[in-house]
Amino acid sequence: MDRQLAVGTLAIHPVHIEAWPIYDKSQTPQLPTHRKEVAVKLHLGCGKKYIPGYIHIDAQPLPHVHHVRPVEDLSLFTDCSIEVIYASHVLEHFGRHEYLRVLKEWYRVLRPGGLLRVGVPDFRSIAEEYASGHLENGLRDLIGLCVGGQRDDYDYHKMVFDEVILTGAFEHAGFSRVQRWDWHDTEHSSLDDYTQAHLPHMNKKDGRLMSLNLEAIK
Ligand SMILES: C[S@@+](CC[C@H](N)C(=O)[O-])C[C@H]1O[C@@H](n2cnc3c(N)ncnc32)[C@H](O)[C@@H]1O
Repeated sequence: MDRQLAVGTLAIHPVHIEAWPIYDKSQTPQLPTHRKEVAVKLHLGCGKKYIPGYIHIDAQPLPHVHHVRPVEDLSLFTDCSIEVIYASHVLEHFGRHEYLRVLKEWYRVLRPGGLLRVGVPDFRSIAEEYASGHLENGLRDLIGLCVGGQRDDYDYHKMVFDEVILTGAFEHAGFSRVQRWDWHDTEHSSLDDYTQAHLPHMNKKDGRLMSLNLEAIK
């Protein structure tokens, strides 16, 4: 697998697509052009972050979002049709009895050999930083990573992960060759998303990475 390529229910979530904000379809951004031989790559739970060449999917109708819909339901894509799924800090928005079905749905649409690249808050880093007693603002520095920003319905965390649990979940969903990935090595390393979250904030040189970044192959 070319590391440079790497970026990375179907009604199991309480959110129903019918209830989502109506947005003007005429303003839907143009989908990246995909010839048959060109990889189709999904950026799930993209929020405000845009990666050229990716199809962006999020619950929020932001200008660059191609499909405003639940990332747990990829029924607009056929089985084995996607090359890469990149999902930064969205899997923890599903509950402990939900996230596995989400991973299975992502597995379904990836082609054999396709790449899943995920980032979630790293519970080990959170716990160790808290226990260190060195945080500038104590627990306040960690609340967002633990429970989400809670600014809207899609901004709540329902699950915590460490490497053991997330690796096991990937494997249970069918993925293999689970390993950590380094955000420096990605095609979107200049994009400051949550997979690059550090404490102290933005101290990417000397701070601690607070994101557990794991990838796997279908
Ligand atoms: C913490 S933000 C991460 C944004 C970006 N990926 C980053 O790392 O900076 C989580 C994003 O996931 C989206 N989201 C949460 N639950 C979702 C769902 N069930 N379906 C679609 N999008 C969802 C939110 O709207 C939000 O944009």
